Amino acid sequence: MARVTRKIGLSLGADVDWPKAYEEIVAKLDLSIPIGRDKVGFHVERTSIEPYDLQAPAKYDLVVDRLTHWYPFQREWIKKAVILDGTYVFNNPWSVQSMEKHTTYCALMALGIPIPRTAIIPPKEYEPKADLDVTLQRYAKFFDLGQIGAQVGYPAFMKPYDGGGWFGVTKVDDDIGMWSAYEKSGKSIMHVQHGVLPHDLFVRCIGFGPQTKTILYDPGAPLHMRYTTKSDFMSAKDQQLIEDITLTINAFFGWDFNSCEALLKEHVWHPIDFANPCPDSQVTSLHWHWPWLVKSYIRWSLFCAATKRPMRVNLDWQPFFEVRKRNLPYRKMVAEYAKIARARFDTVNFEKFCAKHLSKLDEVANEWFGSDACRDAIRLKVVALFPAHEHDAFTQHFFDEVQAWRAADLASRAPRRKKKSARSRPVVIQAAAKRMRRVRRPVPKSRSKAVKPAKVVARSRR
Ligand SMILES: Nc1ncnc2c1ncn2[C@@H]1O[C@H](COP(=O)(O)OP(=O)(O)O)[C@@H](O)[C@H]1O
Ligand SMILES: [Mg+2]
Repeated sequence: MARVTRKIGLSLGADVDWPKAYEEIVAKLDLSIPIGRDKVGFHVERTSIEPYDLQAPAKYDLVVDRLTHWYPFQREWIKKAVILDGTYVFNNPWSVQSMEKHTTYCALMALGIPIPRTAIIPPKEYEPKADLDVTLQRYAKFFDLGQIGAQVGYPAFMKPYDGGGWFGVTKVDDDIGMWSAYEKSGKSIMHVQHGVLPHDLFVRCIGFGPQTKTILYDPGAPLHMRYTTKSDFMSAKDQQLIEDITLTINAFFGWDFNSCEALLKEHVWHPIDFANPCPDSQVTSLHWHWPWLVKSYIRWSLFCAATKRPMRVNLDWQPFFEVRKRNLPYRKMVAEYAKIARARFDTVNFEKFCAKHLSKLDEVANEWFGSDACRDAIRLKVVALFPAHEHDAFTQHFFDEVQAWRAADLASRAPRRKKKSARSRPVVIQAAAKRMRRVRRPVPKSRSKAVKPAKVVARSRR
């Protein structure tokens, strides 16, 4: 058997915590996976920004990309690598470049999924261009903002059509609010969307390949507590629906990872933001959920790289539209979309691969998340985001959250009769007990103040 190495590139901007976790856990796994006649190992490195020769082959089998959606030079590099060298990249760069939140709303509507009533309005200001004046004079119609607000229905949200990080999002309650939000919108094309208010639940569902996780989200909480740790907040049927819609949109757009926001009102789930195809992956937002995400990165990237999963470069929407034509009951229809999605994500083979070749992952990861290296990774992100006087407190806070996750993870994997013996692990159990009591370390005041999304405006900390 030949020993072959799959090269995995991490294409990064400000991310520091999950990459360190990823690199160190993959190294500790020290895998040698039999695939055909080969024994496959992995080498992980961070990609760099430098001139490249179009004739020279790219060196990566797979790239985990968290940079090119905003950094055009690397976006061209990754497109070249996909077309010329067969590199697999999360996410499809053409799809990310051309599909905005607006297109996801249109797709959801075409698939019969109830987004709130939404309109889109031309921008208030423009970049100067040669033919701009004549075009606007001839063709741009005057419009009545108040009428648009009334059609959509107040309260409404005015927000950029290509949104992200709550930037430029304003809750508007009347015509005056509409005018004032539009005045501030500058060159952005804006959606006006009916507010799903008050809602009963707000969830975020992260999709990573075929893996999903639905988390109860609290948009009014401080940044580091918006992903709640509540469980059993929704029925299994509703969870299935949200995960099915997430997988559907991700497969529809060729996005390997994405996070999706939906609101429940009067028993109806309304997607409001299904276009986050470079989802927040930082321990400072995800805390307790962060190890799940790191492990999802590892599983899906190793599966795709080891099996040389072919990149789906072109999108194929017709099979979804064929399902729509069948006029099935709503949940059955969504389940049928999700079947297509699960097939596209090769779910059955992925699960077999994980069971057979990544059986050590849970144990290795659990141990790593309790290490000093994990604490260092957390500290790196805390130092990047928080003022100096909060570094120690927040490093400890997020580390404690991760320890609480470790305890629950160990308990969930322990054979029933052995559960009690886990109590002999003092550190872990203390953390678990703490989680049960929901005791939190006091957090410095500057962060404990809730930021309301109504006039929000903070960029997300990715
Ligand atoms: N239709 C809506 N109904 C209720 N709340 C909304 C609606 N649209 C946006 N919001 C609120 O504003 C926040 C930001 O809007 P979102 O569409 O997610 O923009 P972004 O892409 O910037 O995250 C949401 O997380 C939610 O709290
Ligand atoms: Mg959002």
